[in-house]
Amino acid sequence: MNLTVRGIGRLLTMTEPALPDAAVVVREGRVAWTGPAAKLPPDAPEQVLDVEGACVVPGFVDAHTHLVFAGVRRDEFVARLAGQPYDGGGIRTTVAATRAASVEDLAALALGRAATALSNGTTTMEIKTGYGLTPDDELRLLDVIAMVGARSPLRIEATYLGAHVVPEGRDRESYVAEVIETLPAAAARGARWCDVFCDRGVFTVDEAHRILSAARDHGLGLRLHAEEIARTGAAALAAELGCASADHLEHVSAEDARAMAAAGVVGVLLPTVTLSLRSQAWGHAAILRDAGVQLALATDCNPGTSWCESMPYAVQLACLAMGLSVDEAFRAATLGAAHSLRLDDVGHLGQGARGDLAVLTAEHEADVVAHLGGRPVLRTIVGGELVN
Ligand code: NIG
Ligand code: FE
Repeated sequence: MNLTVRGIGRLLTMTEPALPDAAVVVREGRVAWTGPAAKLPPDAPEQVLDVEGACVVPGFVDAHTHLVFAGVRRDEFVARLAGQPYDGGGIRTTVAATRAASVEDLAALALGRAATALSNGTTTMEIKTGYGLTPDDELRLLDVIAMVGARSPLRIEATYLGAHVVPEGRDRESYVAEVIETLPAAAARGARWCDVFCDRGVFTVDEAHRILSAARDHGLGLRLHAEEIARTGAAALAAELGCASADHLEHVSAEDARAMAAAGVVGVLLPTVTLSLRSQAWGHAAILRDAGVQLALATDCNPGTSWCESMPYAVQLACLAMGLSVDEAFRAATLGAAHSLRLDDVGHLGQGARGDLAVLTAEHEADVVAHLGGRPVLRTIVGGELVN
């Protein structure tokens, strides 16, 4: 698609300083030109979107979601409000509901969430399996993820998370072996990444090591749920294995953070989880930043710990609760998140990047952070095409 976006009051490309009074030219789905409106090339596409002074940013990259699930976890949520801590056990409730749903029903549910994400400016999304927990049920979820990619404008990265929790009635050793045996089929069914929920009460560092090493042998990229419930050594493992990302990290230590920085592991912050778990663990963002870890933001959209499809909401919490600056939070939600997925053509609007843009409802990105409960995104553009 070819498109000229003009009337941009403030443009954030993430590759250059913010530009006032700007325009963007997208040709064949890619950014062909960005610059001052006064210098718009004479042969710019005739298809024009005038955003009337709005701030425009790269489409958000949601680097961590569990978008495909059925059912709700109302009782668990209400119990948490009454003081019950989260231990990951509720995942099994969602597994039962997800196994009982058809592929078409799961796709319809996930596409509804994808539409909400798009309307909030997300244009690229990572989606994990993890609510199937048998080889067939997990592979079915990869099919649903592929359906979301085919039927929505979102760009999808699929992750195999067979190691989400040991399913009910299963011996853990045989389950870990089964997860490892399923890796080639998962790769063949579209998974590009492998993830493990490595935490207290779920998978151990040793089990995660075995699963991720095997995943790497099968050509999958590595991600890791780390230090969410307790500090178990998962972040250090992510550094040792050179994972692309370690995610959550509420209980990360400064030493872990230094190891992550040295190994180039991106730290994916999930502030809606911290809020939803009521854990009050907000200090890890500063620990990671001080150690020089590249930061990413994501929603972790899931029915247990973060029922949220909105990247702007994650940005707001990252600023207001975790202490990121507006600039750090927008970078984490775009460029940092893209780097956590090792994608170099999204998360910025440099020449040749995909023409994925979010048109904000304000003239400055800080206003979108300050305005709580409002509507942050006016229009979403994917590959030069208006999708919302
Ligand atoms: O990222 N931590 C593991 N998985 C999800 C929660 C999944 C659930 O509780 O259903 C998370 O928080
Ligand atoms: Fe998660």
